[in-house]
Amino acid sequence: MLMLHYRLWDVHDVAVLLCFTLYVCHLAGAISIQSSQQGLTRSVQEDVFFSVAVACNGTPTIQWTFMSSSVSREVGTWRPGAFTNITADYSSRVEAHDNGSMGLSDLRLQDAGYYVVTITDEMGSSKDVGFVLKVNEVLYEDLQYLSVSALALACLAGLLMLTMWLLDKAYRKIVAWKRRKQMPENDATELQPL
Ligand SMILES: *[C@@H]1O[C@H](CO)[C@@H](O)[C@H](O)[C@H]1NC(C)=O
Ligand SMILES: *[C@@H]1O[C@H](CO)[C@@H](O)[C@H](O)[C@H]1NC(C)=O
Repeated sequence: MLMLHYRLWDVHDVAVLLCFTLYVCHLAGAISIQSSQQGLTRSVQEDVFFSVAVACNGTPTIQWTFMSSSVSREVGTWRPGAFTNITADYSSRVEAHDNGSMGLSDLRLQDAGYYVVTITDEMGSSKDVGFVLKVNEVLYEDLQYLSVSALALACLAGLLMLTMWLLDKAYRKIVAWKRRKQMPENDATELQPL
């Protein structure tokens, strides 16, 4: 009983191994997709370039799909030398390259998510690679605005303080000058008898 159980496991293991080998062979088959960075972070209004180098038997069909927690939509499909079909929403922002790469310009917050490129060869087999794009809000412009406003306010306050100080000084000077102007007359009247 134990022996049979053991042998069954053996068969199971071999089957798993065989499937795994077939799977790897299938993956390592005709299509190859080379890509470098698969996690990208950009800011709003910036551009992003999803760089891949695709190779397969014959001409590949390249399809890019966008996925986020709420939507999944096609960005574009193209086949070098044959056609380029970019979804209307993206037509002005997407740049399709023959090696499978895709450039997306003027990023928006809603562009954050997963970008999957699916390569289909002429035999109909396909392979895909995914990218994660993070889009950050541009905060530094607001901060700049805030710091400029703060600086302007500080300057204004400084100017006010300086003006008040100057006015105060001027007032004192005028008072002193008035007093001095009155003094010589007194001196003169006092000195005259001498
Ligand atoms: C794919 O082609 C584009 C445009 O010719 C190039 O800028 C990019 O570096 C290429 N990507 C790879 C991974 O070779
Ligand atoms: C281009 O894509 C649209 C929508 O995905 C589709 O309806 C249309 O048939 C496609 N055109 C070509 C030439 O593949």
